[in-house]
Amino acid sequence: MLDPLLVKGEAIGVLITGCVRESAYCEQDLKFTRQLADQLAICIENARLYEKVVQGQREWEETFRALTDPIFLIDLNFNIIRFNDRMDGHETCSWKTGFQGKCHKLLWGREKKCDNCLLEEVYNTGSPAYRRVQRPSGRVLDVFYYPVLNQNNEIYAVIHHIKDITEQVKMEAQLVQSAKLAAIGEMAAGVAHELNSPMTVIIGNAQMLLREGGPAGSPDGLLNDVVSCGLRCRKIIQNLLTFSRQDHQPLAPTSLNDVVERVLSLIQYQINRNNIDIRLSLDQDLPPVSANGHQLDQVLLNFLLNARDALEGLERDREIVISTSVRAGEDGQRWVTTSVEDNGAGIPPDYMNRIFNPFFTSKDTSRGTGLGLSVSLGIAQAHGGTIEVGSSQGEGSVFSLVLPVDPEGEEG
Ligand SMILES: Nc1ncnc2c1ncn2[C@@H]1O[C@H](COP(=O)(O)OP(=O)(O)O)[C@@H](O)[C@H]1O
Ligand SMILES: [Mg+2]
Repeated sequence: MLDPLLVKGEAIGVLITGCVRESAYCEQDLKFTRQLADQLAICIENARLYEKVVQGQREWEETFRALTDPIFLIDLNFNIIRFNDRMDGHETCSWKTGFQGKCHKLLWGREKKCDNCLLEEVYNTGSPAYRRVQRPSGRVLDVFYYPVLNQNNEIYAVIHHIKDITEQVKMEAQLVQSAKLAAIGEMAAGVAHELNSPMTVIIGNAQMLLREGGPAGSPDGLLNDVVSCGLRCRKIIQNLLTFSRQDHQPLAPTSLNDVVERVLSLIQYQINRNNIDIRLSLDQDLPPVSANGHQLDQVLLNFLLNARDALEGLERDREIVISTSVRAGEDGQRWVTTSVEDNGAGIPPDYMNRIFNPFFTSKDTSRGTGLGLSVSLGIAQAHGGTIEVGSSQGEGSVFSLVLPVDPEGEEG
């Protein structure tokens, strides 16, 4: 006997019944198998539909779980119906039902509904709403509310989407800060430029007086002091001008010892003022590297300012050692290393692989931009070199700029 399995008039299969005897079935049996076939068809169809529903549900659950921001479905009585369990960034929990509780209690820790609750606004207006909140922990959250409508276009729930934008806000603040620093740099360059001419007059006149033996009755050495201090000021001014100049110099043979000297003339005073000793250990036979000197100044300046910051407030004898040296790689390539070592706070291990990221800083916004090391690494790499770091927390750090010696430059 063959009975079609019919679903809405369409055959989805056949029920075959067989017997080895001849003329084994009567009309009664035929009726029975036909009924059986109808039941079977309904069962199969239900099973298929169920599978589809489950899969559809699974897809939605996976969609919500894939989102890293917390999302909640909240009904008109402030009950959380569903959520994707990303509240604390934990990845272990899955989207589940049966999370009992009111949103004001579970999300914001309040016994009563929040003042000027935006959920109510969404129910009343039918349009999405948004608010930025700052948590007591300091984290900044963007909270979005979207109405969920049923077939009759009535709101029956609200989707509550929370986005943690703490990092973004921090970055914006740092961008503003670095723009400010750029402006200060420009102003400093302007001031240096203005000071250049009066400095020339002061030094020139003092030298002239010196040649004539000085004004009668003036103590020895006074004029000499005026001249030498004037010369020092002029050097600082010139270095400041060179440093702040933005132009793209061509690469030229550059001595890292000169770079050290130049940068020190700019900030040695500031560092010494912080009761920090600077020791130099310069290799006098250092080969030149082919480089943009201004950019190397900047790298060294960043190292020194970071070292100064790392030493701040420490009780021990504070010291920075600047050293230059040459070393040869296995392939015969020679490298010039310029290191700045401090006995400061050191770098916590979990910061270590982030310190070169743009905008990563452990200092407060008014002091750190988080750009120093990322810019420095860019400069080192543009010169075919790199930056090496060693640090042990609580004991100090050493940052080394490693640059290749240009073989041709060496011969010349
Ligand atoms: N010598 C150092 N000792 C300890 N930590 C350092 C040192 N140099 C850099 N760091 C760490 O690296 C971070 C990034 O440095 P940097 O890119 O120069 O940005 P910034 O100085 O503006 O914070 C610093 O905030 C600090 O945590
Ligand atoms: Mg820095």
